Amino acid sequence: MVKVNCLNPIAAVGMDLFSADYAKTENMQEADAVLVRSAAMHDLELPENLKAIARAGAGVNNIPLDKCAGKGIVVFNTPGANANGVKELAIAGLLLASRDIVGGINWVAENKADENIAKNVEKAKSKFAGREIMGKKLGVIGLGAIGVLVANAANRLGMKVYGCDPYISVDHAWNLSRDIIHVKTNDEIYKECDYITVHVPLLDETKHMINTETISKMKDGVVILNFARDLLVNEDDMGEALKSGKVARYVTDFPNAKTANMEGVIAIPHLGASTEESEDNCAVMAVKQIMDYIENGNIRNS
Ligand code: MLT
Repeated sequence: MVKVNCLNPIAAVGMDLFSADYAKTENMQEADAVLVRSAAMHDLELPENLKAIARAGAGVNNIPLDKCAGKGIVVFNTPGANANGVKELAIAGLLLASRDIVGGINWVAENKADENIAKNVEKAKSKFAGREIMGKKLGVIGLGAIGVLVANAANRLGMKVYGCDPYISVDHAWNLSRDIIHVKTNDEIYKECDYITVHVPLLDETKHMINTETISKMKDGVVILNFARDLLVNEDDMGEALKSGKVARYVTDFPNAKTANMEGVIAIPHLGASTEESEDNCAVMAVKQIMDYIENGNIRNS
């Protein structure tokens, strides 16, 4: 019997794929395989018999990769499986940053008991006026599965989209709309764009890539979006930039105590991949990867 430990709940459509040769275990120490979503595994003791860890998601920064490599444990992620969910929330982020939807909803909530609410709508209209994204310049940093979808979708909404990714794969380049202006350096994006969205993994080179120095290269009143990883943004530097007005809006899927309370911040509790469809896709891919490895020794990244 192959024992599988789930460190986070994994969608039933994936779990149901396990044959009768697999059993769930609550005891990590007897696990042959681990399924995990966002639980941090760095401080966990990894059992000797552990063969594989599958992350139901794209980022693997919650998994101790070096430790796994040393013990011969194969680590899988599920690239692309939740890309559409994240793309849709990032597009919502662009709109939330541009139209005061949150202010408008809060106004209705505050005034819902007022019998004159319908008449007072006229006052709210000018108070919550916004701007349109059509014709504005969007810079997409990182053209992986999610970045390409965001770039193409924003382009279809009428934005002028710049993309930068020195490591873009052939498949992703193939899927990128021809209308996207593919630039060689992030600096070109910083200089040109009204909106900048990051879609890169968290690595030593990308940690705090949005900081005082990079922000200083951006346009005054730039809008920055982060639906990728929390530590891509230096929150102290972002706080300063919001205070000075250099950054007009910061939309993030990673609320941080340093900025969450500040004017201009729209923070969401890491909901990018929290859709039924994304969770199902990730679960199915992760379970298939584990079974294919345990049963056939295949290591596949899809
Ligand atoms: C990812 O890395 O794809 C996301 O963090 C997935 C998640 O929300 O768990």
